[in-house]
Amino acid sequence: MSERPKILVTQKIPADAYSLLHAIGEVEANMDEGVIWSPEELSRRAPGHDYLLCLLTDTIDARLLGACASASPRLKLVANMAVGYNNIDVEAATRQQIAVSNTPGILSDTTADLAFALLLATARRLPEAERFLRAGKFTGWGPLLFCGAEVHGSTLGIIGAGRIGQLMAKRASGFDMRVLYYNTKCLPADIEDAYQLTYGGLDELLSQSDFVSLHVPYASSTHHLIGERELALMKPSAILVNTARGPVVDEKALVRALQSGQIAGAGLDVFEHEPAVEPELLSMENVVLVPHIASASLKTRARMATMAAENIVAHVQGQRPPNQVNR
Ligand code: DGY
Repeated sequence: MSERPKILVTQKIPADAYSLLHAIGEVEANMDEGVIWSPEELSRRAPGHDYLLCLLTDTIDARLLGACASASPRLKLVANMAVGYNNIDVEAATRQQIAVSNTPGILSDTTADLAFALLLATARRLPEAERFLRAGKFTGWGPLLFCGAEVHGSTLGIIGAGRIGQLMAKRASGFDMRVLYYNTKCLPADIEDAYQLTYGGLDELLSQSDFVSLHVPYASSTHHLIGERELALMKPSAILVNTARGPVVDEKALVRALQSGQIAGAGLDVFEHEPAVEPELLSMENVVLVPHIASASLKTRARMATMAAENIVAHVQGQRPPNQVNR
């Protein structure tokens, strides 16, 4: 590449990443915090860039990739600032010889922290209790006031015991929880031992767990992994926690299960039609809802932005991006 490469950054990201990018190329960046470009805006801006640093809110589909591959300069790498990359059509990128990278590992602890926080907040009814107090309704300690589910000593079912799921199990062991897990394949025995994980079939896990926490990537095989049938298998006292991806859960079936008392509650960081949320969920007291913030600590977001930028830097320097997910 004789000229300095052209880099497009689709949303405002933590500051350190920009200096890495400015050092190696010409950077065009959306600097309006919180502004997400529409698909039309993205297809207007992206073609003609060598590199795209994007977020999970950007749909990088076959059409956009085709336009970027036939523009000059042609797109070389899509560096997603997220571990999940279901927003990118990786097969189409591969066909167009465009590399795709993600940011694995560095957000696992932070995501597990939030998943456990959601579990605790839902079990112990923290947002509901706080709303009550702020509304001036606290007239004194009450033996029945905001009694919730007991966390310590209970059973946690982890669906998807990869990096984040294993760290969720680590947190659960501090609460003396029994931890079941379900993966398509059993983990090696040394990992099961290290995290005190017991393998269960999906149905067994769902019917035995007091808390079910989802940590699978989103793909066609995990679409609506938790639907009406699976919710019906859960205990009426059980709580579902989702920090993975919204469409892993059939959100309408979840609403029905919560309304009918088929399960007791849910702690949700992600939504099927994000940023839209099923309106019924908004009025339910037994549901804790947060806006996809599982990796949102200052340090982790800075590390994610830097890692996404480092993948671009590596490619500019003629190396394979360290976190490339396609060939
Ligand atoms: C990811 O990285 O995939 C999370 O959902 C956002 O941090």
